Amino acid sequence: MFKNLEIPAHLIPKDPRFGVGPSLIPQAFVEKLAQSKNYLGTSHRKDNVVKLVRELQLGLKKYFNLPEGYEVVIGNGGATLFWEIMGLSLVSQGSSHFVCGEFSEKAYKAHANIPWIKAVREDVAFGESIKPFHKEGFDLTCCVLNETSTGVMNTYLPERKEGHLLCVDATSGAGQIKADFKKIDVYYFSPQKVFASEGGTYIAIMSPQAIEQAMKVSSQADRFIPIALNLKTAIEISRLHQTYNTPCLSSLFYLNEQVKLMNNLGEEEVIKEAQEKAAILYDWASEKKYLSHFVKEVSARSISVATIDVDDKYPMSELAQRLRELEIAFDIEAYRRLGRNQLRIALFHNVSKDDLKKLTQIVSYAIENC
Ligand SMILES: Cc1ncc(COP(=O)(O)O)c(C=O)c1O
Repeated sequence: MFKNLEIPAHLIPKDPRFGVGPSLIPQAFVEKLAQSKNYLGTSHRKDNVVKLVRELQLGLKKYFNLPEGYEVVIGNGGATLFWEIMGLSLVSQGSSHFVCGEFSEKAYKAHANIPWIKAVREDVAFGESIKPFHKEGFDLTCCVLNETSTGVMNTYLPERKEGHLLCVDATSGAGQIKADFKKIDVYYFSPQKVFASEGGTYIAIMSPQAIEQAMKVSSQADRFIPIALNLKTAIEISRLHQTYNTPCLSSLFYLNEQVKLMNNLGEEEVIKEAQEKAAILYDWASEKKYLSHFVKEVSARSISVATIDVDDKYPMSELAQRLRELEIAFDIEAYRRLGRNQLRIALFHNVSKDDLKKLTQIVSYAIENC
């Protein structure tokens, strides 16, 4: 149906990258990195890199206006490895998971796989939001701020409860969906989403209680924790503005550039822009009869990742393929395992409003002229 589609020149976006991760890295960051002579290819234990990591940690503290005592821990392996680290390093009795999509389910599976801790799950149907709560007998409560696979944001977080830590996977919402740090003990993310970096790194913002728990678990004689997966190791080395093993220097560089860029605006303004982008997509979905909202609950529609169902008559995989061939839009298809005729589009900070408007016009043009 869309195999021979051509797009009028005035609808072509400035940047074709609409994917939810790895996401658009501004060309200016790449050029700045290419021009720097004292960073790439230098030691991560020496001044130039250490200074940048320190600046990055301070930049994140400023951006999130972190409460006193919270620390920014950095390590290799991304959010996926961090699930394992949490299971090995933070759980005394058990972890309780609130599953609303692929990623929150993967976090559960990582913990269910560790023989010496208990892991339980509460589920909702994919496309619905979930309200986490602290469960008796489980000291870690794990949830996701933005379920990248479904485009659901979970803004409700439970109040603090003695003996429980709240761990929030903020990977695709961090920076753009507000969260109350006073309720959160571990706010972790991979930076290849809103923060416009590359995969392979995790950032874990930790409360004093979470740090204390990591120290306690690591001192338990009956616990085996591989050194590289021990959060205590990561906390201590992050205090020196380093990572335990060699990091990807370009990732840290891009992330720091994006944090500076977002700090120039401040979190409130970044969120306001995200809301405006979301309105472009969701108003369009409400207006066109061949589109419908996958997320029915209005307040759970993500302002970071938009998912919009399309009438089965118009195969979106084919349209996405054609737009990819034309290099007009990349990575707009649904999460692969959701199996829906759907568009999934990043509303991340670097994706411009103008380009998002053009993308909606392109899809409408394709459908209405096929
Ligand atoms: C919400 C969420 N959690 C975790 C991950 C895993 O991140 P990584 O692939 O960097 O390990 C992703 C990746 O897209 C994600 O969207």
